[in-house]
Amino acid sequence: MKVLFVCLGNICRSPMLDGWVRAQIAADPSLSWLQVDSAGFERTHVGEAPDPRAIRIAGEHGIDLSDLRARQIGDVDFDRFDLLLFADASTLSAGLRKAGPRHHARMHRVMEWLDLVPFDLADPWYGDFDDFRTCWARVEQAGPLLLERLRAARQADAVPAA
Ligand code: 4NP
Repeated sequence: MKVLFVCLGNICRSPMLDGWVRAQIAADPSLSWLQVDSAGFERTHVGEAPDPRAIRIAGEHGIDLSDLRARQIGDVDFDRFDLLLFADASTLSAGLRKAGPRHHARMHRVMEWLDLVPFDLADPWYGDFDDFRTCWARVEQAGPLLLERLRAARQADAVPAA
C-alpha cells in the first residue's frame, strides 16, 4: 500500500509524517507492505532538506529527517498512490482541484481521516519552535492511529476510504 503525505512546502508537516511512518516501517518488518512518501504544492523548496526546526524536533524524538528532500506533487502521484493525505483544508482543496474526480475518494485531510480534532495540521513554518513541537506532538498522536487504520484496510483488502 502506498501513501502520500502532502502539505504546502514539503519541508515541515508532510516530511514529519513521512519520517515518522518511515521510522516505524524500518523498525518493524511486519510493516513491509507499506510505503510512504511526501510532496508539496510549492516549488520554492524543491530539492531542500526539511526545515532545520523539523529536523531538530524529530531528532529529539529519535527520528532522522535529514535525508528527505522536498519535491512538488505531480499529476502522476494521483495514479501512483492508494491514499493521499493532506495537511489541511487548503492543501486538500488544492489537491482536489488538481486531481481528476476519479481520484477524489482516495484524498483526505489526514487528521480528519483519523477523527482527530482539530482537523487541520497547522502550518508551523511561520511560527517558532513551539509550533514545531505542537506539530510533532500531533504527528505522534496521528501516527499509531494511522497505522491501525491502514492495517485494518489491508486486512479487509480495501483501499482506505472515508
Ligand atoms: P509545510 O510548511 O507546508 O508544512 O512544508 C511550509 C513551508 C514553506 C512554505 C509554506 C509552508 N513557504 O511558503 O515557503
